[in-house]
Amino acid sequence: MEPRNYWRGGLCVEVSSAPGSLIIFGASGDLAKRKLFPALYSLHQRSLLHETSRIIGIGRTQYTSESFREWLRPAFAGESTRFLEHVEYLAGDYGSAELYQSLDRILEEYEQRSGFPSQRTYYLALPTTLYQTVIENLSGAGMLSASDQEQSWRHLVLEKPFGRDFDSARELDLWLHKYLREEQIYRIDHYLGKDTVQNILMLRFANRIFEPLWNANYIDHVQVTAEESIGVGNRAGYFDSFGLLRDMFQNHLLEMLSLVAIEPPVSFAADAVRDEKRKLIESIRPFELSRLGAEVVRGQYEGYRSEPGVAGDSSTETYTAMRLQIDNWRWKGVPFYLRAGKKLAAKRTEIAIVFKPVPHSIFAPLTTEMLGQNMLVLKIQPDEGMELVIQAKQPGPKLCMGELGLNFRYADLPGGCCFEAYERLLLDAMLGDQTLFIRSDIIAASWRLFTPVLQNWEQYCELHPYQPGSNGPAAAAKLLQADKRAWRA
Ligand code: BG6
Repeated sequence: MEPRNYWRGGLCVEVSSAPGSLIIFGASGDLAKRKLFPALYSLHQRSLLHETSRIIGIGRTQYTSESFREWLRPAFAGESTRFLEHVEYLAGDYGSAELYQSLDRILEEYEQRSGFPSQRTYYLALPTTLYQTVIENLSGAGMLSASDQEQSWRHLVLEKPFGRDFDSARELDLWLHKYLREEQIYRIDHYLGKDTVQNILMLRFANRIFEPLWNANYIDHVQVTAEESIGVGNRAGYFDSFGLLRDMFQNHLLEMLSLVAIEPPVSFAADAVRDEKRKLIESIRPFELSRLGAEVVRGQYEGYRSEPGVAGDSSTETYTAMRLQIDNWRWKGVPFYLRAGKKLAAKRTEIAIVFKPVPHSIFAPLTTEMLGQNMLVLKIQPDEGMELVIQAKQPGPKLCMGELGLNFRYADLPGGCCFEAYERLLLDAMLGDQTLFIRSDIIAASWRLFTPVLQNWEQYCELHPYQPGSNGPAAAAKLLQADKRAWRA
């Protein structure tokens, strides 16, 4: 079947990157090769990388610029010679001051030649244990403060984890702010770069029809699901000391939940959106220890303890489900159910907004319960799209009704779906747009919510085993059954 173009009209605000430099620390690593350089390549193919932009990879591996480009080349789907002209490489030890002096010299020469303001984006694609060394050295070399020249800047992009609980996150934050202002810090949550996640705000605030329904008067409950079929793979060392709640809830799930639940921001400006997110997370009711066992489910897949790199007696959770309540006018009394886990039946991330049933069924003998509930499903991945579930007449005998899914799939569009999250995030970091990056107070608010859980759940929440390839522990199903509800299958 020919792809059909569903779009009528369309407004695109696309700005190519500023003519500055992107410096990737950890350039010879996995993240750089698998995600960052392919994303930059794609930006270049779409003419979104400024023609004079320089990308400088820094790594410990002894490549020359030439051999680094050859190492990168297989990572790109098409012809990459023109793109690779933007790329250089500098080998060195992250702790050596000479590395930073050489880098600064290269950047200054480039900036003088180009005649553009000095705009540098440093990307730390490194283990967090190296952050301190790199940031202290950048600061020591005077490379974190821009000259007074108008439009000069220094941005620093960081990957998670941002702490492991409230105190450690605060400590990291205080430390970072010794070297950088908040406007310079770009904390990545790659979920925010996904087209389908960005679509949540467009759907809610560029359409009038949803807003009157988007509240406790019409919505029964919301389900946020992030299931994965993969296990911990070669990240067992990190994962076993972190666990699923820190790995997925504190960031990705809370970010998705806040986009669904925030109040309309005054504008689409970075701080206007992030102010609303902070308020929302702060409105989530804190967990009561005496009810923790009834609100939170911890699970671990069978065989996890035998994975290479995992402690034989590990009690780290690979699955978590929970019920949250938001104490504000819009959401009072509407439960938000969140679940995420590893080694489950399939990969699926989605948000289901489940509406209340009709107040009275005129279709006796069909009762309101039999009629089912309307549901809007935002399919984040992998089958990106949206589905509106309604009740409708089925062709057939007089009273024949069924659930109908009005389904939109991005894959049916001529351009397909979706852009790699890192494309958008790298472009925004280079442009200085912080909307899709996590602000320090939001991190603090989310750790404030989850730290008491992490500190107490070993005592209050049993660790439920579940079969790899299943839908998770039975206790997760019971969490909703207790409220006479069920997870979306
Ligand atoms: C990462 C987590 O942030 O997100 C991983 O550390 C997880 O454990 C991954 O697998 C999931 O990302 P995505 O984009 O594949 O859903």
